[in-house]
Amino acid sequence: MKTLAEMAVEVLTTADGREKTALSHRHAATWFAARAAGEEIPIGQAAPPLRPARPEKPALLDPREVPRRRPGSPQGRIAILHAVAHIELNAVDLHWDMVARFTHVPFPIGFYDDWVKSADEESKHFNLICDCLESLGSHYGALPAHAGMWRAAEDTVDDIYGRLAVVPMVLEARGLDVTPNMIEVFRKAQLQNVIDALEVIYAEEVGHVAYGSKWFNFLCGRDGLDPKPKFHELVRHYFHGALKPPFNEEKRAEAGLPPDFYWPLADQL
Ligand SMILES: [Fe+2]
Ligand SMILES: [Fe+2]
Repeated sequence: MKTLAEMAVEVLTTADGREKTALSHRHAATWFAARAAGEEIPIGQAAPPLRPARPEKPALLDPREVPRRRPGSPQGRIAILHAVAHIELNAVDLHWDMVARFTHVPFPIGFYDDWVKSADEESKHFNLICDCLESLGSHYGALPAHAGMWRAAEDTVDDIYGRLAVVPMVLEARGLDVTPNMIEVFRKAQLQNVIDALEVIYAEEVGHVAYGSKWFNFLCGRDGLDPKPKFHELVRHYFHGALKPPFNEEKRAEAGLPPDFYWPLADQL
């Protein structure tokens, strides 16, 4: 029987997006079927790659070189969806990396349930957005994408505190801030299939942020640390730049992120 860490590495080392996400769904189903049957799949230990495998396309460019397009135009809408697909593909790997990277840190099994479920959901998100791109005559890989997406993972490769603070509690929380405006763009264009896909993503991302904050608080509690100053210290250390308001205070609260965690790190207006 494969260990969960081995399954994670298999996903991380699969390059093609549709193949990666199909494997991700299969491994998540295996994990949850075993959990429901009361069987135990060992977590094990594996050697996740420093960077996940990526398809030949899209070309990865420095964010400053990625061309900007007007959001109101058909090409602009395709560019937005392409960027979202790229984020979702990275998110699949980020969650499997969370599973495989920190097996030396003792956690209750619920830690693995949460990240396997998140990875499974990100796999669905990637496919939903790819379907939207294809319905508009494009596809993932048709445009260049940001090269810097894996940086937060590399920076926090040996720091579980930093990983939880920066990935779910900063980057994924940012998704909650920007998604409502994105949905508006597609409402104006009357693209109901895209609206439906983005609504699924918006609802499920709250859970990923909540898992981050739950396990960050768990670790702080176990180690006798005050979570708020620890969070500030980690974000200042690992995250490059200030957090950008406006914040989605309601969804952040739902995900267990109180305002005094993020406001002190915000751009002062
Ligand atoms: Fe997602
Ligand atoms: Fe997510």
